[in-house]
Amino acid sequence: MIDIVQGDITALTVDAIVNAANSALAGGGGVDGAIHRAAGPGLLQASLAHAPCRAGDAVRTPGFRLPAKFVIHAVGPVWKGGQHQEDETLEHAYERAFARAEEVPEVRSIAFPCISTGVYGFPKARAALIALSVMRRHEAGFERIVACVFGAADRTLYEAVLAELPPGPAVG
Ligand code: APR
Repeated sequence: MIDIVQGDITALTVDAIVNAANSALAGGGGVDGAIHRAAGPGLLQASLAHAPCRAGDAVRTPGFRLPAKFVIHAVGPVWKGGQHQEDETLEHAYERAFARAEEVPEVRSIAFPCISTGVYGFPKARAALIALSVMRRHEAGFERIVACVFGAADRTLYEAVLAELPPGPAVG
């Protein structure tokens, strides 16, 4: 099931949350900063051990002080106009995040922020279609996939895009 939830991803009680990280995995602003603040200093040490992580890839660390047991740090593309494989790189970042989650059978629920749509400047509607399409492909493998949107406009956008997506494979 795909749930659209508006709010702070660090507060969600799910098995894993996904971070919109940078290649250095050194923390930053936006959702990355919020996740590092909430998880505590152990997260930085753990994530740096996996650096660098190229755009389109993802790594997994423990969640430290977060309610989530794991943080999956996915690196999205910086938007450069759309002719630099930004769509494919964003899709890979979501796919690799799912792959990292699927390596751990206890991860039955996972929450994603809107990767690349803040500082990295990816157009929001285009990113929402990519994000929700990948989520739909993995829907049957999880109890719950949360699309965590921060603002009301993103919530409206995600609800509209999800309503237009073809249904996923039947569950059960
Ligand atoms: N919970 C959920 N979503 C959040 C939160 C939060 N606490 N804080 C911000 N967001 C949302 C933003 O509103 C945006 O929709 O996360 C989305 C992604 O925005 P950014 O965090 O700017 O991520 P991104 O565009 O992928 O840029 C990554 O920013 O902070 C740096 O280290 C990070 O260099 C990396 C870059």
